[in-house]
Amino acid sequence: MLRDRVEVEMHRETVNSTTPALYRVNYDVEGDKDSVFELLARRYFRQTLTHLTDKDLFFTGEQIFEVEQNADIGSTWHVGVDSFGYQYSEDFGCTVWSPLHSVNARGQRGGMAYVPQHVISGEWVFEQIEPAVVSTLRAREKAGIKTTAGEYVAVRHGILNSPAMLEILENHRVEDDFEPGDALLFNKMVVHRGVALEEGPLAKRSAYVMRFVEARSRYDLQRARNLDYPTQLLQTGLFAYKPLTRKPIEIAEAGAADGDLISECAYFGDPDRRMLRREQCPERA
Ligand SMILES: [Fe+2]
Repeated sequence: MLRDRVEVEMHRETVNSTTPALYRVNYDVEGDKDSVFELLARRYFRQTLTHLTDKDLFFTGEQIFEVEQNADIGSTWHVGVDSFGYQYSEDFGCTVWSPLHSVNARGQRGGMAYVPQHVISGEWVFEQIEPAVVSTLRAREKAGIKTTAGEYVAVRHGILNSPAMLEILENHRVEDDFEPGDALLFNKMVVHRGVALEEGPLAKRSAYVMRFVEARSRYDLQRARNLDYPTQLLQTGLFAYKPLTRKPIEIAEAGAADGDLISECAYFGDPDRRMLRREQCPERA
């Protein structure tokens, strides 16, 4: 089902492409969500996720990533500041990353690298760097200095990818093997990056991604505005058709106010089917 979904979604005209045919990403799965809601409704799926996180969760969206052999250097180190750019920093958010092809970390690679949170956590990026980057951009603008898209990206992504951080992160990198059906569950503070697909039998590797926030988490309007600011300033996003960073502010445009429960924002249709609640467990009561 997920492979079919990837095929359909990846051939839509609106699919984003940073470097055509090298690394494709679909940030707005448009197809009908029935099959995904059926997956969410499965008891095993719900129990596993809510048990591992020990939280009630709300499904906020799905994404698809595809990487081709020898055609991409992988993504740079980052945390979930774009994907969770609508949520208060202190509220819990997590990603389920599921490759739909085998990943051999000592072979062709093409998987996911991450650094355990006890070594380096991305909390300071969420709480301090993100707002500080925007206030720096505003100060430049006020001083009459124009900022290009490239300069913005260099400042924002340079923090976790400076020579010093690169050495630390690469040294503590974990890269796992996966078979289709395996998944990596990680919270939004985990520093991670996609790994390039090297020489080998696979022509491309696709991955299906689901995002969840803690059910009681709240909408952060300032964070959404901060993400939208460079888009307005530069009149361009990371992708031509629609800036990735628009989604958080669209939640406000659909009627949400700062501090509203994300699970009650009108932006998200079918809220009941998106909710994963923990079961009352008799032994723990
Ligand atoms: Fe990521």
